[in-house]
Amino acid sequence: MSAVPSLATHASSPRWVPIAQANTDVAVGQRLRVHGWVHRTRSSGGICFLVLRDATGQVQVTAKKDVLGPETFSRVEKALVESALIVEGAVASDKRAPGGHELRAEKVEVVHAADNFPIFTGQTEDFLLDHRHLAIRTREMVATMKVKAEALRAARAFLDGEGYWEVTPPILSGNAAEGGAEAFELEYFGEKAYLAQTAQLYLEALIYPLEKVYAVTPSFRAEKSRTPRHLCEYTHLEAELGWAGMAENLEAQERLVAAILHRIAERRPEELSLLGRDPKELKAIEPPFERIRYAKALELLQGKGFDLPWGSDLATAEERALTLERTAPVFVTHFPKELKAFYMLEDPEDPRTVQGADLLAPEGYGEIIGGSCRETDITKTVARLEAMNVPRAPYEWYLDLRRFGSVPHAGFGMGIERIVRWVTRREHIRDTTPFPRTPSRLLP
Ligand code: 4AD
Ligand code: MG
Repeated sequence: MSAVPSLATHASSPRWVPIAQANTDVAVGQRLRVHGWVHRTRSSGGICFLVLRDATGQVQVTAKKDVLGPETFSRVEKALVESALIVEGAVASDKRAPGGHELRAEKVEVVHAADNFPIFTGQTEDFLLDHRHLAIRTREMVATMKVKAEALRAARAFLDGEGYWEVTPPILSGNAAEGGAEAFELEYFGEKAYLAQTAQLYLEALIYPLEKVYAVTPSFRAEKSRTPRHLCEYTHLEAELGWAGMAENLEAQERLVAAILHRIAERRPEELSLLGRDPKELKAIEPPFERIRYAKALELLQGKGFDLPWGSDLATAEERALTLERTAPVFVTHFPKELKAFYMLEDPEDPRTVQGADLLAPEGYGEIIGGSCRETDITKTVARLEAMNVPRAPYEWYLDLRRFGSVPHAGFGMGIERIVRWVTRREHIRDTTPFPRTPSRLLP
């Protein structure tokens, strides 16, 4: 079968429009052509009703035997769900049709007659994950992927507008950036290499030539923990700001988050509604976000019955308890040094803690951003690496950044799937990414 369907080149062929455009009042009376896939089909007495979908939407197509002729009609009638069709016809109003209009077919080409589509309602999660390459065609997945794309567009538009440079750090490295635990190791021409857990160390190097930088890269975490918020591969949006401290860092984060939420609410209201999120809730979220210290967070949690001595990490359950009743994100600042990575800046006023923060999403969703000011004192950095038993040699290049024009700087990393999970109210983070990588899943 030729890749370019014959109808498309026919001289009398009407113009090809997105399906969403065919399903509008202004299209009524127009002769149009749409390309799409069969979402539903039923036939009786020489009439076939199809719902056709493309990336933009759905429209009902009414195909009649006496218009199409018996041969074509028979092919259309037999076309199963997910068959690919090209339809030419006139748009008419029809209150019963989804969207209120139908396309009355004058010509139909069955570009591909599909096999029996294995995806339908009521199947197990495992079956759907095994058939993920097909399950991504469902309406909820489509809506979630569009929201995610909008989040990335919004983030780039915001950061570009703020004077950041987008950069392209490596994914393969000879040092495990966060110190080694949870890094995927692989062999690189006989040497040990790691998949990036973060681009941070490279972004820190890039502030010297570019001052404000960001990157959107895959990050990898060999986390065996099966939680609804951990993936082994995720989309990491990281930014690094030269000449910046705690205040500038947190402000950049809250403004970025608000810009993302507002743009999604503005441009993807239909997708949000389909996913059960009222766009107004996102529009209502404005900076500044509340800031609470780790010590205060412990107090709040102790008040909720958690037994947490100083030094305890805040895991999924704690973050959930802290944010369940909230409608806006909250920063938790000044964690104990031992809980955080070697590069975080010690707080001069309370050296037990670091000048860093996690941004927690409301409604129980928890951490979406981790960030901090970076230690600029080379002696302290070396001591922290040693205390964490991290071999120094692979970090020697990083220590150079403290030898040549070292300046105060800070940055953060946002898990794109984490913020999308919150915005789209997905129970599991895997449903925010088309092909999730979890400890038990590498295919499809
Ligand atoms: O808090 P993390 O580990 O911080 C860093 O990697 C810093 N080096 C970032 C920086 O300052 N440039 O990770 C940052 C964010 C988390 O807040 C979370 O949103 C997301 O990355 N994240 C994950 N998302 C999905 N699955 C996982 N396993 C994740 N681990 C972290
Ligand atoms: Mg973190």
